[in-house]
Amino acid sequence: MDNSYDIIIRGGTVVTASDRFQADVAIAADTIVAVGRGLGPGRREIDATGKLVLPGGVDAHCHIEQLSAAGIMNADTWESATGSAALGGTTTVISFAAQHMGLDLTQVVADYAALARNGAIVDYSFHMIVSDPTEITLRDHLPALIREGHASIKVFMTYDRLRVHDEQMLDILLTARENGALVCVHAENHGIIAWMGKRLIERGYTAPKFHAVSHPRVSEAEAFNRLIAMAALIDQPIMIFHVSTVEGAAVIRRARGEGLKVFAETCPQYLFLTAQDLDKPGVEGAKWMCSPPPRTEMDQEALWRALDLGDLQTISSDHAPYAFDESGKLSSGPNPTFKQVANGLPGLETRLPLLFDAMVSKGRMSLERFVELTATAPAKIYNLHPKKGSIAIGADADIVVWNPDVSVTLTDALMHDRTGYTPYAGRTVQGWPVIVLRRGEVIVENGRLQAQPGSGRFLPRQGGWAAQPSERLQAEMDAERNFGASLFSRAK
Ligand code: URP
Ligand code: ZN
Ligand code: ZN
Repeated sequence: MDNSYDIIIRGGTVVTASDRFQADVAIAADTIVAVGRGLGPGRREIDATGKLVLPGGVDAHCHIEQLSAAGIMNADTWESATGSAALGGTTTVISFAAQHMGLDLTQVVADYAALARNGAIVDYSFHMIVSDPTEITLRDHLPALIREGHASIKVFMTYDRLRVHDEQMLDILLTARENGALVCVHAENHGIIAWMGKRLIERGYTAPKFHAVSHPRVSEAEAFNRLIAMAALIDQPIMIFHVSTVEGAAVIRRARGEGLKVFAETCPQYLFLTAQDLDKPGVEGAKWMCSPPPRTEMDQEALWRALDLGDLQTISSDHAPYAFDESGKLSSGPNPTFKQVANGLPGLETRLPLLFDAMVSKGRMSLERFVELTATAPAKIYNLHPKKGSIAIGADADIVVWNPDVSVTLTDALMHDRTGYTPYAGRTVQGWPVIVLRRGEVIVENGRLQAQPGSGRFLPRQGGWAAQPSERLQAEMDAERNFGASLFSRAK
């Protein structure tokens, strides 16, 4: 009799990004130590008969306890956000440490890290938002922070207080390249959005539904093209966040076809919502306002196709939580123009149930693909694999026992984040996480969260993106050498 197992998850169907099979999963301390048949016994046995045994979700884009572009604080704390993530089957998040103008990036990261250390319930890591790429930030702070395990940078091409212009973008891309970090980008054309917004407001079109009009679809494709050109010049891998349009997906397909190092994600709001959702009486539509905005059914289909083809590799929540009251969406008063409303939707808890229902229960994609898009691929792209994102010997025991048969109608009251609403209220989804383990600890059972705030661990992520220069960059560097310059390195 082998007593070395703390937990056996018995009799379920184990699913990875490549396979599904009947097996028991054995856990010792925080690690998966065996996958096989007839294992055990374990000190605790979890009966997974008729259930799926999936890797915990990895949500690589969520805003937690963060100051927005307009200076409004998220509704969630680390405790409430990651508690809701766990209840929805997500066991790893990558959130943001947001540098606003004039702030010291090292201090910013330390401040966000302290919040997460006190509150996190699932394991976490950070993308560093750089909005003020000063000389010291580029030369000293970023390289040191990347070495400490913050191996991704987030940059905004829009939002008045966060955006960087093209020259700053090139500086950041070069710094990332020299230090092996990935650059993630919110890519929309700022000028188009500002111009459209101003004209709409001047003419009295102030309701939330005009937020969608103020982000024309060309503003996405234009910014993607410009960003991709800059990344190609520097030969720096990029991740394009929240792709929302047919045209945006096509730009990415072409760039990847040309061999450029371009990754891209979409989010449930672009697969399940449309601009029509913003068209509600009064300012109610503010609950559905995010940037880029939800688009059309045609865009939804294009995004599903791009996921099918592998043009988009991950689906993140872009959880950006604001309550529908004076602390959040209505912070400018009860009757704001769409320009005065904080952008963002809650989504950490609903990401996996919505996607499981659409992909697996409704038969659009395989179970393996569901696991790949929501756990394995983000873990690989962001250097968290093989510890996270799979069920394999030696991986962290982050596991979701999933009931594929149960149907749940989403309601505001069912949610556990602090916004007080879900944009998906009234939808019925088939499939729900019933037991969630994080590093071998059962943190969700019978719909109840049972984990201590602060029990989530920081996941340092090392760089590793600086590969051999592309032929294009090599040619540029060879040309430089002919006249003795060094343009594509920070050295002068
Ligand atoms: O509307 C959104 N997505 N708000 C969050 C900030 C961001 O990443 O755009
Ligand atoms: Zn964004
Ligand atoms: Zn975001």
